[in-house]
Amino acid sequence: MAEPAAKKAKTENGIFKKHATCLVLDYGSQYTQLIARRVRENGVLSMLMPGDVTMERIREANPKTIILSGGPNSVHVEGAPRVPEGFFEYCKENSIPVLGICYGMQLIVHQLGGEVKTAEAGGEYGRMPMNVVRDSTLFSTETADSQLVWMSHGDEAVKLPEGFSVVARSEQGAIVAIENPERRIFGLQYHPEVVHSERGAETIRHFLFDVAKMSGDWKMEDVLEEEMEKIRQQVGPTDHVICALSGGVDSTVAATLVHKVLGDRLHCVFVDNGLLRYKEAERVMDTFNEHLHLPVTKVDDAERMLGRLKGLTDPEAKRKAIGAEFIDVFSEYAHKLEKELGHKPRFLVQGTLYPDVIESCPPPGKGQKHSHTIKSHHNVGGLPEDLQFELIEPLRELFKDEVRALGRLLGVPEQFIARHPFPGPGLAVRIIGDVTEGDRLDVLREVDEVFINSIKEWGLYDKIWQAFAVFLPVRSVGVQGDQRTHSHVVALRAVTSSDGMTADWYPFQPDFLRYVSTKICNTVRSVNRVVYDVTSKPPGTIEWE
Ligand code: XMP
Repeated sequence: MAEPAAKKAKTENGIFKKHATCLVLDYGSQYTQLIARRVRENGVLSMLMPGDVTMERIREANPKTIILSGGPNSVHVEGAPRVPEGFFEYCKENSIPVLGICYGMQLIVHQLGGEVKTAEAGGEYGRMPMNVVRDSTLFSTETADSQLVWMSHGDEAVKLPEGFSVVARSEQGAIVAIENPERRIFGLQYHPEVVHSERGAETIRHFLFDVAKMSGDWKMEDVLEEEMEKIRQQVGPTDHVICALSGGVDSTVAATLVHKVLGDRLHCVFVDNGLLRYKEAERVMDTFNEHLHLPVTKVDDAERMLGRLKGLTDPEAKRKAIGAEFIDVFSEYAHKLEKELGHKPRFLVQGTLYPDVIESCPPPGKGQKHSHTIKSHHNVGGLPEDLQFELIEPLRELFKDEVRALGRLLGVPEQFIARHPFPGPGLAVRIIGDVTEGDRLDVLREVDEVFINSIKEWGLYDKIWQAFAVFLPVRSVGVQGDQRTHSHVVALRAVTSSDGMTADWYPFQPDFLRYVSTKICNTVRSVNRVVYDVTSKPPGTIEWE
């Protein structure tokens, strides 16, 4: 899907315009977003663009420093991404320091007249020692001469462009750090952004502050002020705004921020679709009312939703039915509000985050242009024609951890901010088959509540990205109180992850698993067997459906 020009302009005209930014050009590495986050953790605003972006957009972004990310390609592959024509000249004219990481360093070498070759020994992967071989600009004088770094490369630089020198080598003798301080161009063959590079954070800090002379004064307080100001400018004095709250962190923080500016001209709706966790609707409504004083209408849609889901067993059919029902309920709410106000609310608040709008670098040779990876956020993308709104997206330049920080500033309670993500289709993707059959939803709610409470009691909640129970449509034989039983089987799932894209199962101690399985079978009468899911993503997904 081609990226709409309006969206592009919006991203780059936001907070990026007001601060000295570090531009990170993405060449497809799995760590590119991590680079951007590491930079921001230092109080320097970073923005991401695809690696072969036009010079026009780079100029428009007016970065004060540029990092070229790693990537899975070889510079020798036909169609491999390059820096745009005129990039190095532009950096020279504007004295912009450039740091190439991994593929980014190979691009510097290759494009400036050096030589990159496929490593004879097959490359270097994993954690390995490197040695700083001379005094340099790139490394601080305090850095360790020998340090463990994270390598992941098949190609390596064998001849440097004119004016460059080697400042560090791997134990095998490969060139792993280069610089041309006069031209302010630097390269690291390893990944300083990952924690496995023991001095990586220090090297990034040194580059940003001592080499690139960035100021490090970008703060969440400023983001809050700026986003509030943007809303003041965007929304006229009599305009009204609508927002669907999911009970998750993103929509809550977005709504709280908008509410701070517009007060009761914001109208929120929270739909209890019958697929929520144990007492979830009451708990989130309590947070909205008591703590955040948000104007929220709760719509009880459980009966209609479950009616629509009756008999559906195919996961996609279930998802579609839930999406369609949500749109129906939201439309009804919007029309009712329109009647009450006497005019249609003009704006819709969405909790879109930066990772949802970043364009990524496509693999070479696929004939693909950069595609905009926008997730359809909470189903409102498919609203009918007469309900199209202008969007307010106050989080679209922030990463998840930054949204949490902003939420804290806005007074969103800590236990709410630290909540695990919960999918839009709710428990429907955690009940295999027909959601409405028997007492499946109630059983699952009870099991889930015991599991989550146990995780909290054992102090494990914050170590886990997401934990939940899954209802399996099978019965197993058991023995409880000398009685033979033929009851439900539930699966428990807990994963660690940094963004939900990949995940690993959480290695609970046997004591915990014993405790929780006993507790579930003792408290939820119709369950006699508990299994633990030990599948990573890939090959599994986090949810079961
Ligand atoms: P999967 O199951 O694809 O999930 O590994 C990755 C993350 O996304 C959540 N998820 C959803 N969130 N609507 C949502 O709002 C959905 O349809 C949906 N499906 C999965 C999931 O809980 C996990 O955090």
